[in-house]
Amino acid sequence: MTSARTGTPADRTAATHSPELRAAAARLGRRRFLTVTGAAAALAFAVNLPTAGTASAAELDAAKIKSDPFTLGVGSGDPQPTSVLLWTRLAPSPYESDSGLPRTRVSVRWEVAHDERFTRVTRRGTATAHPEFDHSVHVEVPGLDADRFYFYRFRVGSWISPVGRTRTAPALSANIAELKLAAVSCQAYHDGYFTAYKHLAAEDLDVVVHLGDYLYEYAVTAVGGARNYTDRRLPAHYNRETITLEDYRLRYGLYKSDPDLMAAHAAHPFV
Ligand SMILES: [Fe+2]
Repeated sequence: MTSARTGTPADRTAATHSPELRAAAARLGRRRFLTVTGAAAALAFAVNLPTAGTASAAELDAAKIKSDPFTLGVGSGDPQPTSVLLWTRLAPSPYESDSGLPRTRVSVRWEVAHDERFTRVTRRGTATAHPEFDHSVHVEVPGLDADRFYFYRFRVGSWISPVGRTRTAPALSANIAELKLAAVSCQAYHDGYFTAYKHLAAEDLDVVVHLGDYLYEYAVTAVGGARNYTDRRLPAHYNRETITLEDYRLRYGLYKSDPDLMAAHAAHPFV
């Protein structure tokens, strides 16, 4: 992982926002501004529903999804003694602005099992992927046992996601002799490959603590910066600084499409 500074002036970041938000950004500075807006987004995700009045009415027939929507893998996080958060995002075309989906809701089934082959499923349900959230899915799974591994996956129509593994936290009363955690930070896509995550995915860990930065706003060239792709080209919309919500969603998609980062998310819960 490399380290670099983002250092973009707050007034430029907020250029596309309302006068109130621009003023707030100027007062708080950019980092703080993003934290505040991020907190609002987290609150919205807590119930996994768009703001009242914006919910899309139509629901997509999953049979119309013609290519794998699970291109960005799966992840889990915020492990508690009896619950864990599961994540995925539907993106048949992860490098396009609409991710290859119409602006309709999509029903996503999920299941959690004790074993990797899902012969002993302990929890299952259905979640809705909303276009307002770029078809991301957050499921807080309750009723789990403390301090144990679980396996999870998602399904849309006939498409099945990769299997993820997660681990619940120990009980609050547990006498903990040891805890195995990894700390990661500062992953810059344009500075090179995420091979450290490949190793991390193979480690025996209880949880990964991500200290940020999860992404960088710098332009990423068509060859992926220092990755210097010879077999593919990234769309031109990555080759500019990340400013708008759409820019950020594209940038998250780009990072999440990295196979090593995907493997780490599928192997361990992140905080
Ligand atoms: Fe950093």
